[in-house]
Amino acid sequence: MKVTKKVAGVEYAIRDIVVAAKKFEQQGKKIEYLNIGDPVKYGFQPPDNVKEALINAVRNGENYYSESEGLPELRTAIAEKEHAKGLSVSGDDILVTNGVSEGLDMVISSIVDEGDEVLLPGPYYPPYASYVRLRGGIPVEFTVDLNNSTPDIDDIRSKITSKTVAICLISPNNPTGAVFNEKSLKELVDLANEHNLYILCDEIYDQIVYDEKFVGIGKVAGDSPVIILNGFSKVHLMSGWRIGYLAFNQSPQLNEIRENLPKLARVRIASNLPVQKAALESLRGPQGYIAEFVSELKKRRDLVVKRLNSIPGLSCSNPKGAFYAFPKIETNRYSSDEEFVLKLLETKGVLTVYGSGFGTKYGSGYFRMVFLPSLQTLDSALNKIEDFMSQ
Ligand SMILES: Cc1ncc(COP(=O)(O)O)c(C=O)c1O
Repeated sequence: MKVTKKVAGVEYAIRDIVVAAKKFEQQGKKIEYLNIGDPVKYGFQPPDNVKEALINAVRNGENYYSESEGLPELRTAIAEKEHAKGLSVSGDDILVTNGVSEGLDMVISSIVDEGDEVLLPGPYYPPYASYVRLRGGIPVEFTVDLNNSTPDIDDIRSKITSKTVAICLISPNNPTGAVFNEKSLKELVDLANEHNLYILCDEIYDQIVYDEKFVGIGKVAGDSPVIILNGFSKVHLMSGWRIGYLAFNQSPQLNEIRENLPKLARVRIASNLPVQKAALESLRGPQGYIAEFVSELKKRRDLVVKRLNSIPGLSCSNPKGAFYAFPKIETNRYSSDEEFVLKLLETKGVLTVYGSGFGTKYGSGYFRMVFLPSLQTLDSALNKIEDFMSQ
């Protein structure tokens, strides 16, 4: 039976690679999973007050459809969070989604027609390209200097055409951990305004930064056409509950999308109501667990980056945020980063993700590993990577 070429072409390396790992597992081999960016899989948990909010909502009978745009009190709490980061929004400017993933699908479906181009940071989180392609659009990667986390504005400018509709930013970035500073964000907003482009900014890792204070796009957005994508999977440790949101800046250029995109929220009915109650609690309740989580991650980042840089044939820039290391493979013993990752899996049982899965232009020749496991597990995985490199 027919399936569309567009859907057959969808790839998601982070999960696709697991098929290979499962095969080795079936042969009785132990696999160290360093591929999935899910803190909850590595022992972190949402705090008890948040779990209780979800359980209480279920027990209190709040098991019905919520408003399509999201619970009003949650939208207000989210608006306060984004307002504190600099974006002038109120609850009416927030749309609650089943994860950033659904929000991304809604935005791309609303702005990309056949042949339209969308600028993405190279390398990028794969669903950005997948959703663009699914709508018949063309992802166009731009250069980011990984050593100083800076987007190359001239490169972006040179890639803007009459077909370009949006510039996507992911800060902190998955897979590189790059975090854009205020000056770069301002330059990006100015450039988007010059060319009448949307700025889509994914800030799902906004509170997971290690070296400098995080600055969000909201701080420099003014009244530009900025849409923030954010959620509760990472900072708030609620990955499996599937909740996120879109925040629309109060810009006249967004009037049309604000009228039309919510139709997509209505056709999918609503986000999960008990989970929205839990998300509200995670914003209103004590926030101390986030600092603990980030300080734990910082130790893991420091270990991983130090060890990777001490292994001949690998080099790794320092991720300023998120929880991924993205080392460069400097040996030419492997024909591709995919072969490198498969051999590492086959010989050492360590599962990472090939860099080209995050865009071939800038991701090829790298691999991504999460630094979410315990220091002990990371150390043992790095011993295996070191052995692998010395073979
Ligand atoms: C940059 C980025 N955006 C979005 C997501 C997915 O978010 P959600 O769980 O809210 O769908 C991820 C998950 O890895 C991510 O890295």
